[in-house]
Amino acid sequence: MEPSIRQLVFLAFMEANLTHLALARNQFSGPIPLGIGKLQYLVELYLDNNNLTGSIPASFGDLNRLAELRLFQNNLSGPIPSNLTNLIELHLFDNQLSGSVPKELGNLKFLTIMAMSKNQLNGSIPASIGNLSNLEVLYLDNNQFSGSIPATFGNLNRLVNLSLDQNHLSGPIPHSLDNLTNLIHLDLSNNQLSGSIPLGNLNKLVVLRLFRNQFSDPLPELLCQSGILQNISVAENMLTGPIAKSLQNCSSLVRAHFNGNHFQGSLSEINWGKCKILKTLVVAKNNITGGIAPEIGNLTQLHTLNLSSNYLSGEIPREVGKLASMLKLDLHDNQLTGGIPQELGVRNSV
Ligand SMILES: *[C@@H]1O[C@H](CO)[C@@H](O)[C@H](O)[C@H]1NC(C)=O
Ligand SMILES: *[C@@H]1O[C@H](CO)[C@@H](O)[C@H](O)[C@H]1NC(C)=O
Ligand SMILES: *[C@@H]1O[C@H](CO)[C@@H](O)[C@H](O)[C@H]1NC(C)=O
Ligand SMILES: *[C@@H]1O[C@H](CO)[C@@H](O)[C@H](O)[C@H]1NC(C)=O
Ligand SMILES: *[C@@H]1O[C@H](CO)[C@@H](O)[C@H](O)[C@H]1NC(C)=O
Ligand SMILES: *[C@@H]1O[C@H](CO)[C@@H](O)[C@H](O)[C@H]1NC(C)=O
Ligand SMILES: *[C@@H]1O[C@H](CO)[C@@H](O)[C@H](O)[C@H]1NC(C)=O
Ligand SMILES: *[C@@H]1O[C@H](CO)[C@@H](O)[C@H](O)[C@H]1NC(C)=O
Ligand SMILES: *[C@@H]1O[C@H](CO)[C@@H](O)[C@H](O)[C@H]1NC(C)=O
Ligand SMILES: *[C@@H]1O[C@H](CO)[C@@H](O)[C@H](O)[C@H]1NC(C)=O
Ligand SMILES: *[C@@H]1O[C@H](CO)[C@@H](O)[C@H](O)[C@H]1NC(C)=O
Ligand SMILES: *[C@@H]1O[C@H](CO)[C@@H](O)[C@H](O)[C@H]1NC(C)=O
Repeated sequence: MEPSIRQLVFLAFMEANLTHLALARNQFSGPIPLGIGKLQYLVELYLDNNNLTGSIPASFGDLNRLAELRLFQNNLSGPIPSNLTNLIELHLFDNQLSGSVPKELGNLKFLTIMAMSKNQLNGSIPASIGNLSNLEVLYLDNNQFSGSIPATFGNLNRLVNLSLDQNHLSGPIPHSLDNLTNLIHLDLSNNQLSGSIPLGNLNKLVVLRLFRNQFSDPLPELLCQSGILQNISVAENMLTGPIAKSLQNCSSLVRAHFNGNHFQGSLSEINWGKCKILKTLVVAKNNITGGIAPEIGNLTQLHTLNLSSNYLSGEIPREVGKLASMLKLDLHDNQLTGGIPQELGVRNSV
């Protein structure tokens, strides 16, 4: 086959010792020219946000000076090459890449960012990823990974963001994950993970998303220890026990979803006065008993309170009616009695 004009252009670039090639955010289509694999001085290659098709040339493995490879938001298919070297950032998200993640990627010892969300990758996540000791961001969400979360992930002690949501992962969360004390954002939602939630040490956690799995047992009591957790969702699992202790220090909490579990006990022991900025609290479809404490009136920013489908009893405290930010109040399907607070009628936003 004769080389295309484009291939000739790249052969010319080779002479030029090209180090940076940025063609992102255009409407380039067709395959990535194989010739790029010969640009051996390349340090940065940005081809993201185009409409490139075909596979990632295996010859990229020869680019041993390449530090940043950005191919995200294209239409690339086929496997991820196994012999990439020396990369610091690998951005492949939002393509149609398939097959498994090569275990050899565990050799990319300088890698800080691995972003492979929104592809069709499958098989199990290789344990060798746990060898990437410089990794700060690991996004493997929205793929078809199966098997369990490798215990070796507990070695990734620089990890800040870990997203494994929307896969078919099963088995327990490895205890070693509780060693990832730099984690800020952890998303394991929409998998088939089970067992207890062994996370009590993650003092920098701001976002914790574990919804739609099969987690059981009580929540760890130290969940909010540091008081910086902002968003938590453990909805639609099989969690048991009380939630009061886990919410003790949640002074930064903004959104909390506990719905669709088997939580029991009362909410009255929660020190609502600490949750000054809580906006959304959903504890619907659980086994919560006892009354609604007047202290809930301390949640002055609350706009959604959903305690429906529980076993709450007693009267709705007047304080609930005074919550001026309330937009959604759902207490249906409980055993509440008494009158409906007059204060509710004073406002028209409910
Ligand atoms: C991308 O390329 C495919 C196949 O060539 C084509 O069907 C599609 O319309 C293109 N999409 C855009 C956004 O250009
Ligand atoms: C990577 O693999 C490709 C194809 O298998 C090969 O051409 C290339 O030489 C390999 N590079 C390295 C550095 O092993
Ligand atoms: C990807 O390719 C498929 C088929 O070639 C096409 O239908 C689709 O529009 C393309 N997507 C984008 C984002 O270009
Ligand atoms: C992964 O997907 C490929 C098709 O892309 C399929 O042939 C293979 O069996 C799948 N592997 C697993 C473990 O599901
Ligand atoms: C991690 O790296 C060490 C040393 O390079 C190697 O012996 C080990 O097999 C690697 N672990 C995995 C799971 O690949
Ligand atoms: C980590 O995740 C958060 C929330 O999605 C995001 O705002 C932040 O930019 C991410 N950090 C990095 C380094 O990607
Ligand atoms: C957590 O890390 C410590 C030291 O870094 C290590 O001794 C311990 O075994 C690790 N725990 C787990 C569960 O991996
Ligand atoms: C709550 O915070 C206080 C002081 O900041 C700390 O002593 C206590 O252990 C924390 N309690 C929980 C359950 O995290
Ligand atoms: C918490 O969730 C809300 C609503 O989804 C979102 O707007 C906000 O950015 C989240 N906070 C963080 C820190 O991710
Ligand atoms: C929830 O409460 C109902 C009624 O009291 C009881 O039958 C059921 O066993 C409870 N479920 C759990 C998981 O505690
Ligand atoms: C919380 O509410 C109770 C009863 O409404 C009130 O006595 C108490 O002072 C409030 N605490 C805080 C910290 O706002
Ligand atoms: C309250 O939560 C239940 C269960 O998750 C849901 O079905 C219902 O729509 C929610 N109510 C409101 C007002 O959003």
